[in-house]
Amino acid sequence: MTTSKNIEAVAAAFGSAFGYEPAGVWSAPGRVNLIGEHTDYNLGFVLPFAINRRTYAAVSLRSDSIVRVASSFSQTPHEIDLSAIERNPENDWAAYPFGVAWAIQQITDKPGIGFDAFFDSDVPVGSGLSSSAAIECSIGLALNELWAAGLTRQQLARAGQLAENEIVGAPTGIMDQSASLLGERDHAVFLDCKSLEAKSIELGFDAENLELMIIDTRVAHRLVDGGYAARRDSCELGASTMGVSSLRELSVGDLPRAHEVMDGVTYRRVRHIVTENDRVVETVNKLQEEGPRAIGALLNASHVSMRDDFEISIDELDTAVDVANRHGAIGARMTGGGFGGAAIALAPIERVSEITLAVLAEFELLGYAKPNIFAVTADQGARRDR
Ligand code: GLA
Repeated sequence: MTTSKNIEAVAAAFGSAFGYEPAGVWSAPGRVNLIGEHTDYNLGFVLPFAINRRTYAAVSLRSDSIVRVASSFSQTPHEIDLSAIERNPENDWAAYPFGVAWAIQQITDKPGIGFDAFFDSDVPVGSGLSSSAAIECSIGLALNELWAAGLTRQQLARAGQLAENEIVGAPTGIMDQSASLLGERDHAVFLDCKSLEAKSIELGFDAENLELMIIDTRVAHRLVDGGYAARRDSCELGASTMGVSSLRELSVGDLPRAHEVMDGVTYRRVRHIVTENDRVVETVNKLQEEGPRAIGALLNASHVSMRDDFEISIDELDTAVDVANRHGAIGARMTGGGFGGAAIALAPIERVSEITLAVLAEFELLGYAKPNIFAVTADQGARRDR
């Protein structure tokens, strides 16, 4: 989907917004998480990949400390002094670029220089495909270069996470930014969120004639709403009740004791995280040893665990997963933070149109909004385009 058209378009839009030529164009992809949900902030394992939908940022430094940002997805440009960036609802979407500028200065402990930036994106917003991480990583990579900040990609991922936690106000983990920065074509990023060690794992979907379908329910999810934070709190409670610093430290063998010492809801939250970590590792093994057709049962088990134990699914997502599986998917699950957004279905190419029609029909029958169904491929992470 990346074309020189996107690059020229965002550079031209920068020109109309600010009246001069940008110094360059950088882009970063959205991501889909293959498996490993809500494990990142528990310092466990995740297996996301960067997708072929990107956010483009045309950027130029200024000679003062003013930051101006504009975009094709919002009518409202925003302006702020670099030294005045803080959490403020008036920032709206600009909280992402402002937050990253703030975070890079925090990490490097050096003041930055003001800049103008124009953003254009084909990552769908609110579908659980990390449109926000795509904004953060495109501007992060640009500022790292223009400010000569010298941060590694792992540190830039951390800058994106800091921006979300401190300036946007969403208590998210480091998965989305890591996928957007470290992704490679046809590979997933196997990330250990404790050591931050990342390994590229070949997906091989193409070679097996498989397609990764996104079924976007169009039920918008928002990570600043309470459900995500409540899950995070439950996980912290579970860890402290077990006397460990994070749920990463627990294994399936610890579950009987966890069952005894905590209330039923906290126990189920803990069980999801502990079993999900195992499923990520198992998925990596299967991909490496048997190929992608062998991971279906793990995807399905992940969905059941999110539906019943972590309780972050919604009827539309459950329906999407069930219908996809009944019509020939290898496996399916909701992806991302939950409470809305998208499901993924790994499907043989010859079943894709049947699955699509069946999901559309079932959603219509149940009176749900019409879902947006499309395929994604694993693509290259953030880069400079011009
Ligand atoms: C959102 C967050 C991530 C991660 C997922 C759930 O995408 O941004 O950090 O916690 O939810 O796996």
